[in-house]
Amino acid sequence: MLLYTLKSEVKESINYEINLKKTIGLVPTMGALHQGHLSLLKHAIIACDVVWVTIFVNPTQFNNKNDLNNYPKNIDKDLKMISKISKNVNIFYPEISEMYNSKLKSEVYDFENLDKELEGKYRNNHFNGVGTIVAKLFELFKPNKAFFGEKDFQQTRIINKLIEIKGYKTKLIVCPTVREKNGLALSSRNNLLSLKNKEKASVIYNKLVYAKENYLKIPFKIIYANCKKEINSITGFELEYLEIVHNETLKKENIIDLNKSYRIFICVLVNDVRLIDNILVK
Ligand code: PAF
Repeated sequence: MLLYTLKSEVKESINYEINLKKTIGLVPTMGALHQGHLSLLKHAIIACDVVWVTIFVNPTQFNNKNDLNNYPKNIDKDLKMISKISKNVNIFYPEISEMYNSKLKSEVYDFENLDKELEGKYRNNHFNGVGTIVAKLFELFKPNKAFFGEKDFQQTRIINKLIEIKGYKTKLIVCPTVREKNGLALSSRNNLLSLKNKEKASVIYNKLVYAKENYLKIPFKIIYANCKKEINSITGFELEYLEIVHNETLKKENIIDLNKSYRIFICVLVNDVRLIDNILVK
């Protein structure tokens, strides 16, 4: 397992791999790895000749300083977890200055309003920050395949659009969400919850399932009101949004068309820790 911190060294390795016609797989992460990340890694190992994991907490995608400062970090544990899966994975763990020089700013992309929905309404410029770092990584690694989790489904739609805008050859692979036994989607942010709240946070997935089972029987406004009441009755919990939107455009539609595919998205703040999840309804 090789640990790289410099782009120049990565470039050299990547050129070598490209010359040998290796299929390059990329698993971009912000560290604080969990089984969800390891599942991406396992998919990448099966599908690619060489696999790179990047660990970089990208400052430009945080609209909130506290969220950035509190974001969990544990590089030693991350490296151990990766090495248990495979000793042949390469890791890129750069400093902020290596990725951004002195200009800590995101590019502005036209994501055709995909970035204005859901998370975009609450996290100003978040997706421009994601696009900026993913573009830097795609241009450095030139991956044949890049692996992302379905939990961040809106992010996967944004990255698809980025691939289209930039004309990258990379194939985006979306891997299923990994959950705790109680249904809670794995997230690095779960580290910031007390054990009790982690148990109680099962309400998030439960409400998604309830919404999925009832969206054709009960008006969504009523579903929303029921979920909000139950979630907000738990101390420290607050529903940020619960929406049913078109699976591709991520836009709300007035009438559910049974020939189209929809997805329900939820965000709950647990003592200000942002937890998101989603479920495909058809
Ligand atoms: O999903 C994440 O962990 C991040 O948004 C990503 C894709 C690694 C970009 O910083």
